[in-house]
Amino acid sequence: MNGTYQQQYLEEIGITVWSERELVSIEATPTDIKHVSEENKSSYKELGQELSHLANQVEACDQCELHKSRTQTVFGVGNRNSDWLIVGEAPGADEDFKGEPFVGRAGKLLNAMLFSMGLQRQEVFIANILKCRPPKNRDPKINEVEACEKYLRQQIALIKPKIILALGRIAAQNLLKLDTPIGKMRGNSYLYPDTNLPVVVTYHPAYLLRSPREKRKVWQDIKFARDAYRELV
Ligand code: URA
Repeated sequence: MNGTYQQQYLEEIGITVWSERELVSIEATPTDIKHVSEENKSSYKELGQELSHLANQVEACDQCELHKSRTQTVFGVGNRNSDWLIVGEAPGADEDFKGEPFVGRAGKLLNAMLFSMGLQRQEVFIANILKCRPPKNRDPKINEVEACEKYLRQQIALIKPKIILALGRIAAQNLLKLDTPIGKMRGNSYLYPDTNLPVVVTYHPAYLLRSPREKRKVWQDIKFARDAYRELV
């Protein structure tokens, strides 16, 4: 990756680059989606046996209404041995089409956020609270979150991350079973219920695309998350 790209990633999250620093490279996110084809169906090859078994269970899931409207399930993607689990809300149209979380515009911004933490997208594991797209991207319903919860819990048990980064209010509140506003959760470390697994919270990249001024706060969250992680390893 050349310096211009690096600068673009950092500027995308509102960071001004003053001097050259050592930065890791990051792959471009596939956003040029034109039509559904077999090639666009998600592949579980990289997940290993247990996670791909779970992914197949998710693929067959019909425990809430969302199975009727989905194109495909969006299980999650990334390094199954990662210390970092990134949790978003639910697939959107691009993700429903592609079978992979965060491949649209919000995904590009997420890649930039990860990059500024010194992480490449393929180094972390990315999943959502819901594995199926809610119609018209409406908020998840309680019964949908409850039906899907066991899948995320099993993903966590198999991946064994050291830390979770929750993206946005819906991910944070549902992971932590809290109704605290996201503004109050930022800058605090929580524990994923019934575990010792730390959860840190930041804004959802889609919200940041709508409210670019808030990107500055994300830089604080990124530093907080990075420090929380460093204390663990
Ligand atoms: N928003 C999310 O919360 N998750 C995705 O996978 C895409 C957009």
